[in-house]
This record gives sequence, structure tokens and C-alpha cells, in this order.
Amino acid sequence: MTWFTVAVVLVVAAAGLLRWRRPAWYWMTFGVTLTTLRVLVRYTSVMEACGLTVPPSRWRLALVRATNRPVPESRPPRILRLRPTRTGLVLRLKLRPGQDAFDVAAASDRLRHSFSMYGVTSRELRSGVVEVRMTGYDVLKRVQMPARLDTRPMRVPVALREDGSVHYRDYRVIPHALTLGATESGKSVYQRNLVAGLAPMDVALIGIDCKQGVELFPLARRFSALADNPETAAELLDALVTRMEGVYQLIRAEQRITADVPDSEIAADIWALPDDLRPIPIVVLVDEVAELALSTKKNDPRRDRIIRALVRLAQLGRAAGIYLEVCGQRFGSELGDGITMLRAQLTGRTAHRVNDETSAKMAFGDISPDAVLAAIQIPAELRGVAIAGDSTGGWHRIRAPHTSLRQAVNICNRHADRTPDLPELAPFRPALPGAPAAPVPLSKTAPATA
Ligand SMILES: Nc1ncnc2c1ncn2[C@@H]1O[C@H](COP(=O)(O)OP(=O)(O)O)[C@@H](O)[C@H]1O
Ligand SMILES: [Mg+2]
Repeated sequence: MTWFTVAVVLVVAAAGLLRWRRPAWYWMTFGVTLTTLRVLVRYTSVMEACGLTVPPSRWRLALVRATNRPVPESRPPRILRLRPTRTGLVLRLKLRPGQDAFDVAAASDRLRHSFSMYGVTSRELRSGVVEVRMTGYDVLKRVQMPARLDTRPMRVPVALREDGSVHYRDYRVIPHALTLGATESGKSVYQRNLVAGLAPMDVALIGIDCKQGVELFPLARRFSALADNPETAAELLDALVTRMEGVYQLIRAEQRITADVPDSEIAADIWALPDDLRPIPIVVLVDEVAELALSTKKNDPRRDRIIRALVRLAQLGRAAGIYLEVCGQRFGSELGDGITMLRAQLTGRTAHRVNDETSAKMAFGDISPDAVLAAIQIPAELRGVAIAGDSTGGWHRIRAPHTSLRQAVNICNRHADRTPDLPELAPFRPALPGAPAAPVPLSKTAPATA
């Protein structure tokens, strides 16, 4: 008996220690079983207390009256599926007549503490079916990306969402994006994660880092072109526009629309071209964009040239496989002409902690007022936490894993042989102390590896 007591005390102590120090491990050892049991046992009473039940239908009442049986209780939504995950539980519920997805969303805070979970979110899957995602602990406190990630070309798993799912930066769905945030809020770490995620893919990376190149130049071995001052940036962007025009010529030449070409094979962007002809896609990363757009002079021709090139790339780049990833502290009309036009083209929006509402509005003002509020509420000590949204109005709290510059440098060096040589951008190729990477012709794509 004493041995049994000692064993129980040890297990409880171990569980307590894990829960305190390593919530992710606690969840996977004890939490998931205990919570599943708790949810199943308390389900009906919690749903009733949260106002998510409906009274029995008329025909049931008529039936019990006819057969003289006790009046049936109110019924909660039916559980279609309960799936434990690495970070929590996912419940799929079939709503009863008269309920809607908004009822569940409105009750999510009540559900959260009734089931003793850390977070509860819900979304409608299809008419009458709602998915409730619950997390067992604060997954953003110490971000651990799952080992198994869905890798597709041009889709980078860049951060973890609050509900435990992975946040992807999918360039083919959202070609251009804007990342805002106060200084020291985690923009550069986010961008570094993107570079680390893109490094193993078949893509050319181009960097414009006017903060003297401190963020991107250490990663130079994986970059096909880099600029660290506005003068070089202007020339680099012009060269990119020239390349984009060249790619359009190539697409035109390949279209050859005749009556017997099926509709699905008419090329309108680089992804419709055959593999051996497809130009390599390009991601242009711009850190501290205000350095490009600010100018001491009024009507500075260089500044206007830069903004014009960026606007053209944002408007036409997608089909030519040129994607923009712009980072800055603020990005509003005070930076001058053309900025709001450029911003309207940057579909993906991410806001790290901001110091004022106007900055948050620059990211989400034209998209979702809730997201503006959420961005202002990010606490200063949680660096790297951000709100990610897109122009559909949906948004999530995300946090990228803390990739150090050293880790990113190692990843970039490991994949340095994938760095393509773009002839148009050859003058901007960063000078490297080591051996140059093998040149890859414009249209050749290297064999894909995950
Ligand atoms: N996702 C993150 N997780 C943990 N710490 C982070 C994260 N992002 C940023 N930090 C911390 O914040 C510091 C500043 O981040 P940085 O990206 O350089 O900010 P910014 O570029 O916005 O000025 C980093 O040195 C790091 O210590
Ligand atoms: Mg920075």
C-alpha cells in the first residue's frame, strides 16, 4: 500500500512539474487523456450552462405525452468527431435546428474555462457543422513547429497560430505581403524564418536591406542579389522590372493560342509553362522599407523611381513569378506619393506589436477593425507575436519560432548550391569570400527535393 502511495505521489509530482516547466510534454503525456475524458464527461452539462442546448422538438414532446414518459431534456450539438492533436483537441459539432455558428463563437470564452482549456476558437466548416479547436496550453509562449509539415512549392510554414495550427506563407495564393511592427517587435526574425523556409526551395532570393545590410547580408550565400543602400536598390529594382518584362515575353511566346490548344494549357503565368521552360520564381525581401521611401529632398527622382518600380512589380509581378515581401515600421501616406497604392497591392498583412493605432490601421484599417484592436493589444514582452490577416478579413494571432541569425546562416549555407545566377541581376550578386555557387540558367529548374 505504501509503495502504491509513493508511486501515485511521484506520478502526480512529475505531472505537476511537467505542466509547469514543459506544458507541451505535459499535454502529450497526461493532458490529452485527462482532457478528453473531462470533455466527454462534462459535455452535456457545460453545453447547457453555456446556453448551447435546444429544447426538445414538438414531435418528441408529442410522442412522450402520448406514451406518458418523462419529458426529454434539452439537447446539445451532436459531437461528430473528437480528435486529439499535438496541442489540444478538435471537436466537430453538428448544430441543432435553431443554432448558428455565431452562438458557438460567442460562447467560446465560456467553453474555455468550463473545459479548463487555454484557448477555444471555432469556425463553420459547412452549413450546420462547426469545428471547435481547443488548445491545452499557451502554444505561442515557446513556439515548436510540428515535425511533419505540409511542403508544397512556394508555401513556407513560417509560424504557429494561436489555435496550434501552422501558419503558411503561400506565395501562389498571396503573392505580396506587408509586415509592420514597432522596432524590436520581431519583424526581422519573421523575415529570417521566411528566408530559412525558402532556402531549400527552387526559388531565387533577392534582398534589399537599407539598414546597412545587417539582417540579410549574413545570409548572402543563398541570395542572388542584394542591395544595402537606396542607390543600389533603385538599380536593382529597375533590373528586376526588366527581367519581369523578359518573362512576359517568354510567356507570350509560349502561348501560341490556336484552336486545338486546350484552355487549361494556355499559359498566363509561369506556373502554366512546361517545367523545362519555367523561369525560376523570385522572392524580393525588403527590410525597413521607409529607408527607400523617405527622402530629404522633395520630388527626389531616385525615391520616385524606387516606388514606381515597386508598384510595377506589385501590380504585374505575380504572373512572372516575382513576389514582394515588404517589412517596415510604418507604411502610410506620410511616406509620400504612391505608398498607399503600393500598400493596396500587398494582399498579405502581418502586424507585430505597434505603438499606436494609426500603425495598426496601416496594416488592417482597410481589412478588419477587430484585427486592428488585436494588433494594439500585443504585449511588449511577447516579441514575435503578430496578427496575420489577408484581404478576406480573416486573421490569426501567430508567432514565428525564434530562429537565431546563426541558425539561418547555417541553413542558407547548406543550400547555397541552390542559389541561381540571374543574368539580369549579375551586377548585384553579393561578393562572397568562399567558392561561388554553381550557375543555373534562367529557365532551368533544379530537381525538386522536400
Ligand atoms: N518569434 C520570436 N520569438 C522569440 N523572440 C523573438 C521573436 N521575434 C523576435 N524576438 C526577439 O526580439 C528581438 C528583436 O527582433 P527583431 O526581429 O530584430 O525586431 P525588429 O526587426 O522588428 O526590430 C530579437 O532579437 C529576439 O530576441
Ligand atoms: Mg529589423
